[in-house]
Amino acid sequence: MRVSCNVNGEMRHAEGVEPSASLLHLLRDDLGLMGTKNACEQGECGSCCVYLDGTLVCSCLVLAGQAEGREVTTVEGLSEGENLDPVQQAFVAAGAVQCGFCTPGLVMASHDLLRRVEDPDDDEIREALAGNLCRCTGYQKIIDAVHLAAHR
Ligand code: FES
Ligand code: FES
Repeated sequence: MRVSCNVNGEMRHAEGVEPSASLLHLLRDDLGLMGTKNACEQGECGSCCVYLDGTLVCSCLVLAGQAEGREVTTVEGLSEGENLDPVQQAFVAAGAVQCGFCTPGLVMASHDLLRRVEDPDDDEIREALAGNLCRCTGYQKIIDAVHLAAHR
């Protein structure tokens, strides 16, 4: 089937999409947007987080066809060219990135939190990021990064 949706401000079209394909596969395999990571495909890790019409979703749990005619924002869409979003900058500055596999999902979830809560405390950050797993950092630097982004 054909799927057309607005991705990061641009209309994109994909042909021959399997009806059972996820939005995650549409983004990575059909549209070449590799920032959104695929780790579990079961909604357990948060590495595939994107905005769908402004709502944070696990793209592995959304069918590609459900994105028809809708707006998708991926981690690539947060930056403007070479200019990273403040959340992305804060993750780098705070040393919250090790292997980086979890980072796009954590950046998206942190971005979503900071849209709702201007200056979240540690508990609010931990709760907002509870669905995003990181095997490397121990999470403290991720929390530091969210505070840094909030203060910027
Ligand atoms: S790949 Fe979607 S939640 Fe893990
Ligand atoms: S930095 Fe490696 S999984 Fe989070």
